[in-house]
Amino acid sequence: MSFVRNAWYVAGWSRDFGRALRPLTIMDEDIVVYRTEAGAAVALTDECPHKRLPLSRGRLVGDAVQCGYHGMTFGCDGRCVRIPGQSNLPSSAWVRAYPLHEARGILWIWMGEAEKADPALVFDMPAFADARWAPHYGDALTIESHYLPLADNLCDPAHVSFVHPTTLGSPASEDVPIDCERRGRTVVTSRWIRNAPPVGFFKAFGNFAGNVDRWHYYTLHAPSVAVIDFGSAATEQGIGEAERDKGVRLFALHFLTPVSATRTVDHWMHLRNIGLDDEGLGERMNEQFRIAFAEDKAILEAIQAREARPPARRGVKLAIDRGPNHLRRIINEMLAEEQPDSEEAPMQAAG
Ligand SMILES: [Fe+2]
Repeated sequence: MSFVRNAWYVAGWSRDFGRALRPLTIMDEDIVVYRTEAGAAVALTDECPHKRLPLSRGRLVGDAVQCGYHGMTFGCDGRCVRIPGQSNLPSSAWVRAYPLHEARGILWIWMGEAEKADPALVFDMPAFADARWAPHYGDALTIESHYLPLADNLCDPAHVSFVHPTTLGSPASEDVPIDCERRGRTVVTSRWIRNAPPVGFFKAFGNFAGNVDRWHYYTLHAPSVAVIDFGSAATEQGIGEAERDKGVRLFALHFLTPVSATRTVDHWMHLRNIGLDDEGLGERMNEQFRIAFAEDKAILEAIQAREARPPARRGVKLAIDRGPNHLRRIINEMLAEEQPDSEEAPMQAAG
């Protein structure tokens, strides 16, 4: 199954990279990432074109990488700058250099055609630059699943009642219908649960005395960035859709990076509008997110395990699948744009 290549993917948090050679695998490609002496991030193919030793097994010499086998040395642009024992540098002596962009504490990598790597396409949102919001970075969660079922999950508020009963969901939302809308290359699924007891997360952090109105807006920017706007406000406040800032409001961000057809890394973080100066609060919230995302991981890995065998029957289609169906259509459009002559059979839309 192909991946959308002409898109920015998260290589890692900025804090993950320094003057060490850090190996990564994205879309089955081995990549080594490091920083120059001036601090700029560099990503090269993690394989010497001589004997295929991973370059990450070598060492940095200034801003260049020296292979740990025979000392072939490659600069930040991937071109060979030295071959010990010979002065001639053959034209085949190079490794691929990947376009990178660093912003908001996140290092992004472009896996497709380098000339299309436009930094203006890197995901951003106003809350990052707004003093009324505090960002808090989370983990890099490895999930043994293709990234699309995970992306489906992030267009799917309905699962929350069943998968996350102690943190983000409750039985009060089981039968509340979901709105769904495609906007260009994003899918927005949402619902409000009015006048119900707060779920575990908002019991812990909302300080609510009575019932709350709770919302979920899941925005999936295809192919791989999800923003979950969720929060709660006291029911007696009677807030409208556009007044969510009056409640306790969070954006949970998920950046999905395909490692292979059966493995994905989910870099997740949040932005919140309460306790802006309370570093400990971000960490306490992350503890709840860790419980919830481990629950998603268990579900997705159990489903992926079934993928080894073809299904015995067609999947049942439900009304709650509209979001994932929009997403799969967008992904297919993006793949078709990249590979107009591809003979690959189109992916089935989600269940
Ligand atoms: Fe979930």
